[in-house]
Amino acid sequence: MSGYNRREFIRRGAAGAAGLGLFLNGEFIAAEPAAPLPKPAAPSDRVNVGFIGFGIRANILFESCKKTGQANLLEVCDCYKGHLERAKERTDGKIDVNYAQYKKLLDRKDIDAVVIATPDHWHAPLFLDAMAAGKDVYIEKPMTHRIADGQKMIDAARNAKRIVQVGSQGISSSQNRIAKEMVAAGKLGKVTKVMAAYNRNSSTGAWNYPIPPDLQNGVNFNWEEWQGSAPQHPFDPQRVFRYRKYWDYSGGITTDLFVHLITSIHYILGATMPTSVVATGGILFRHDGRQVPDTLDALFEYPEGFHVNMASTFNAESVAVNGIHLLGTDGSLVLPLGGSSMTYLVDSHREGYQYSIDSWPVALQKEFMDMGNHREEAARTAPPPRDIQAKDSAGATTLHLAEFFDCVRSRKQCSENAEVGSRAAAAGHMVNLSYIAGKKVTWDIASGSALA
Ligand SMILES: NC(=O)c1ccc[n+]([C@@H]2O[C@H](COP(=O)([O-])OP(=O)(O)OC[C@H]3O[C@@H](n4cnc5c(N)ncnc54)[C@H](O)[C@@H]3O)[C@@H](O)[C@H]2O)c1
Repeated sequence: MSGYNRREFIRRGAAGAAGLGLFLNGEFIAAEPAAPLPKPAAPSDRVNVGFIGFGIRANILFESCKKTGQANLLEVCDCYKGHLERAKERTDGKIDVNYAQYKKLLDRKDIDAVVIATPDHWHAPLFLDAMAAGKDVYIEKPMTHRIADGQKMIDAARNAKRIVQVGSQGISSSQNRIAKEMVAAGKLGKVTKVMAAYNRNSSTGAWNYPIPPDLQNGVNFNWEEWQGSAPQHPFDPQRVFRYRKYWDYSGGITTDLFVHLITSIHYILGATMPTSVVATGGILFRHDGRQVPDTLDALFEYPEGFHVNMASTFNAESVAVNGIHLLGTDGSLVLPLGGSSMTYLVDSHREGYQYSIDSWPVALQKEFMDMGNHREEAARTAPPPRDIQAKDSAGATTLHLAEFFDCVRSRKQCSENAEVGSRAAAAGHMVNLSYIAGKKVTWDIASGSALA
């Protein structure tokens, strides 16, 4: 029986309740931390957590859990013993480690919640097993590896009455929250277009992560467990440490990077699913055995009346601006990736009358310019772009985890619950379906599936 159920719920966090900023005479003048970190809880009042998968991301999540002061970190499970050794190092040897037997971790009655940070092909099976074991789950993005997994996972969470937070942490940043508030306050007018980009230009950026030199299948690594129910291949360290290059385990750019952009766009603009996606791309430079494109462009249509132009290349990053550009009829917001600031630009609505009336007789030009507001309209100028600094009490990952632990106690829904995470992943999967099919893909609301 998990401990927190018996504990009195004390609302320490002010997540979601704090002020975001202040508009004065139409000017956005202050940005308070969106979600102050709660005070550290007493050990007896913390959520007991186990980790399944302890690679690159999980190590960051682990340290972020510590920063929240809301979790007791009890056990770590992984298929590579080097990662388990690292977990011991991070805890002065105090944590329990489990070599590739995650069901044993799920069997522990003293573990309340699990963090799932494995490659994508394991997300749905682990999530469903965790639900069956009665655990609350923080699951890394993309929530799903296939669209069809989404509904099964949503249903499992609902039936088991479990709390779920999906790990596109950007939406817990003040930057995203202030952008949402500014859109809602009409500061951009009607947003009809979004441009979003995620570019890189390095081998590690293109997922050629280092392979530990001591890796030996059957000695300190369990390939059989790592593959799980994915299509079976002979042991290949590339597939393990560079799994994002292979369709069997990942959706490449869409599920690794686009899903972050999509989640933020959905959150800021209050959107749920695109009606259609068309994508194109290819392996244009990184001919290193990868199956997924190194360059991808996608166009999304949304029923809320905006379009998204999303792009990524792993072959250039010097000029392209990474992040999200929200283009509205009255102004735009530029949100750099993972940043705490953003730039607000107001549209002048200046009318370029002179360009179009220069072919008229001069007297007629003057007569036209003297009519109505034409001189004022032609002279309009925009205020200079303004940077808005969003203050955050902690990194977005820490805030996202803090919200999860808060919800585990209160049994409130997290902001990125299974429905939200499933939709963001599904919109990403539509990109890949379109790229592979070479045609536009539409979303069928009735069946919750994509039609090519
Ligand atoms: N939110 C973010 O910003 C962010 C950043 C990076 C990665 N991620 C996500 O985190 C996840 C992991 O990515 P990563 O870069 O840490 O990968 P990684 O390869 O470094 O780590 C994954 C770990 O999972 C382990 N694993 C695989 N199958 C397992 C099983 N059945 N039981 C126990 N352990 C198992 C592997 O041995 C490996 O150590 C992915 O879903 C990725 O998309 C999210």
